[in-house]
Amino acid sequence: MKEIILAANWKMNKTTSEAVAFVKHLKKVLRNSKQKVIIFPSFVSIEALRKLEIKNLGIGAQNMHFAESGTFTGEMSARMLLEAGAKYILVGHSERRAMFGDSDEIVNKKLSAALSAGFVGVLCIGETYEERVKNQTIKVLSRQIESALLGVESTKNLILAYEPVWAISGGDPNAPKLTPTSEDIAKIHASIQAKLEELGFVGVKILYGGSANEKNCAEFASIEGVDGFLIGGASLVEEKFSSIIKIANNIK
Ligand code: PGA
Repeated sequence: MKEIILAANWKMNKTTSEAVAFVKHLKKVLRNSKQKVIIFPSFVSIEALRKLEIKNLGIGAQNMHFAESGTFTGEMSARMLLEAGAKYILVGHSERRAMFGDSDEIVNKKLSAALSAGFVGVLCIGETYEERVKNQTIKVLSRQIESALLGVESTKNLILAYEPVWAISGGDPNAPKLTPTSEDIAKIHASIQAKLEELGFVGVKILYGGSANEKNCAEFASIEGVDGFLIGGASLVEEKFSSIIKIANNIK
């Protein structure tokens, strides 16, 4: 069986009671899963999901401040998230880059802080539709990788997620609704891996994200270099997410 990581980015969706009900409904599928499943719920639901103690289920936070503590109204520190039960931190999601000022420099600080605090960092990278049309995809991804990993010594606890912004549902208002082809994904994942190796990092898992769903995940999961998915919309619907988990458990 090919090892597939399934990471669910719930964004600003589901209250705690909804999150708990969702995970309880999926308990059997999660317990039977041989693949790693990680849910990134809202901050306020992390502890409640951790308390369900579902084997195989990793819990993560969608954001984390890089400072240890201080005058940062509205932010969450590593210690707060660790205590709540998060083990994974999402860093550099395109929505945070576009809407909340997470520049390359801030992404680097957040990733470094998350890794130093002992989290697994899930670093998101991806080009916008405009950048793709201008043929800047590889240049943009290389810049995002290099800047995010500046000063990072070990990528043992790093997962990368390649998410073309134009393929994320609702992600890029200027983009026509598109999903990349398997060939596109294979090519880009190979160049991301090559970039990582050039920087001296080997064996980093690379997820694909952007309208990944129960219909395309079997095809995409069998692409060499695709180690799993970061899933938004489809991870919010029980039937869809449980189908994805079941499919991932059958990838040869
Ligand atoms: P999507 O979102 O699966 O709804 O396109 C993916 C993401 O933004 O991580």
